[in-house]
Amino acid sequence: MSSLEDVESWLGWLALTGGGGPIVPFVPTRKEALDLLLKMLDLREKDVFYDLGCGDGRVVIEVLKKFPVGKGVCVEVRRDLLEEAIKRAKAERVDDRFIPIHSDFFDVSLRDATVIYMYLLASVNEALKPKLLKELAPGTRVITLDFQIPGWKPVKVFGNRSGWQSTIYYYIIGESDR
Ligand SMILES: C[S@@+](CC[C@H](N)C(=O)[O-])C[C@H]1O[C@@H](n2cnc3c(N)ncnc32)[C@H](O)[C@@H]1O
Repeated sequence: MSSLEDVESWLGWLALTGGGGPIVPFVPTRKEALDLLLKMLDLREKDVFYDLGCGDGRVVIEVLKKFPVGKGVCVEVRRDLLEEAIKRAKAERVDDRFIPIHSDFFDVSLRDATVIYMYLLASVNEALKPKLLKELAPGTRVITLDFQIPGWKPVKVFGNRSGWQSTIYYYIIGESDR
């Protein structure tokens, strides 16, 4: 098994047959990909940043450290990871703007989001599409690492598309979904 497509089809099958909602393993965004993300983002006080399946919180925490965003929301189904995220947010002194939510992201309202980050699988991105379209306002930015949102057109692609964690897809609600 070598290409992203092979891995995606294998994990996507697992995700869809897992029962009780999609299962995506914890694979943290590496520093290089995180640096690329932080470079392409431009966030202000009015922004509300979500990471759907936030793992140990590293993405939300680095976003809160770099930008004055109003809040960073960390949605994670694994309690152990969310607890680690809460500890890290405290240690990095961003816990006043860090909102941890222990839940399946399908059950969390995204209506106040202005930016959403997802390091999931294409099959899970596909399953999330109706929710994103229903709850997100036009202009909301949706950013994915490695895996595209099937059928949507990214307004921009960052990185060099050369293997794992090297490509960021940037979508805008109202433009990418037409
Ligand atoms: C590939 S990891 C990405 C972690 C983090 N976003 C990052 O980039 O470092 C995917 C994460 O999604 C979580 N996850 C999978 N399915 C989920 C669901 N239905 N609801 C909430 N979290 C979920 C996993 O536990 C895992 O931590």
